[in-house]
Amino acid sequence: MNSITVSQKMSYNNIRLIQGVLRMIYKELGRTGEKIPALGLGTWGIGGFETPDYSKDEEMVELLKTAIKMGYTHIDTAEYYGGGHTEELIGRAIKEFKREDLFIVSKVWPTHLRRDDLLRSLENTLKRLDTDYVDLYLIHWPNPEVPLEETLSAMAEGVRQGLIRYIGVSNFDRRLLEEAINKSEEPIVCDQVKYNIEDREPEKDGLLEFCQKNGITLVAYSPLRRTLLSEKVKTALENVAKNHNATVFQIMLAWLLAKPGVVAIPKAGRVEHLRENLEATKINLTEEEVKLLDSLA
Ligand SMILES: NC(=O)c1ccc[n+]([C@@H]2O[C@H](COP(=O)([O-])OP(=O)(O)OC[C@H]3O[C@@H](n4cnc5c(N)ncnc54)[C@H](OP(=O)(O)O)[C@@H]3O)[C@@H](O)[C@H]2O)c1
Repeated sequence: MNSITVSQKMSYNNIRLIQGVLRMIYKELGRTGEKIPALGLGTWGIGGFETPDYSKDEEMVELLKTAIKMGYTHIDTAEYYGGGHTEELIGRAIKEFKREDLFIVSKVWPTHLRRDDLLRSLENTLKRLDTDYVDLYLIHWPNPEVPLEETLSAMAEGVRQGLIRYIGVSNFDRRLLEEAINKSEEPIVCDQVKYNIEDREPEKDGLLEFCQKNGITLVAYSPLRRTLLSEKVKTALENVAKNHNATVFQIMLAWLLAKPGVVAIPKAGRVEHLRENLEATKINLTEEEVKLLDSLA
């Protein structure tokens, strides 16, 4: 396996050339000095949810390749997704791209947080992705039955072995994130949590503010919420959307991207959605619009 160094920087030049008029925007990951696409590609459901779905493999590989060509070079996945099959499909899709142009995130499931289990999970993830390293490796959910020190130290081992570039957590509340930061040998660069126009827990428990003050990237999952919006929120979004000749979904993303230190990872299973979401990066909400959307909590 080739080892990698922390100073390795991604060159997005080739990808940028094929993006055309649709421009991805970039934000710094934690305090690493490295910029990553502020819109990542969610993959929960590509190749299955809890179990593998092999029925649309060719279509999904093509979709992933199209997404990468459009600028979705930041790809979010997990060993859990599709029972591992999602990682296999990503592995097939990334073959024709330069590995250093991609930023691949995967996550270890909470039943695999003991040292040996984690290192085995990591090895299996790398095999399925058919790559030598992941750019970012996250604890998918906390598990109070496994000492956090043990998990974090196994992740640091993965970094030392050149198998992981950066580490982070997911679904950690503010208190647990602070605990992880204090116990980790390697910097924790992000916390991936549910955050969207209706689900405001990261604001309520002070997680967002903590992340912004301490240079931890907040990765917003389910940014489009998947489930129905309340009437009040829907109406407000529709009004703002009219001002920008945009869709409600684009405004949901633009609102998140307007926040310092926040990136979002919408899942899109169709090219129209990929394009629409990417176009949201061009929307500049006014201060008043942001205030209005903020106040919907
Ligand atoms: N860390 C965690 O515990 C955790 C938990 C949940 C999710 N995640 C990650 O976050 C990603 C995103 O979250 P999510 O998948 O729960 O939900 P989401 O991205 O908020 O919503 C995905 C849904 O929105 C639809 N959609 C996408 N773009 C659209 C558009 N422009 N207009 C209308 N509908 C659109 C998709 O439909 P189509 O598929 O038809 O395009 C899909 O049904 C996941 O895929 C996963 O990578 C992490």
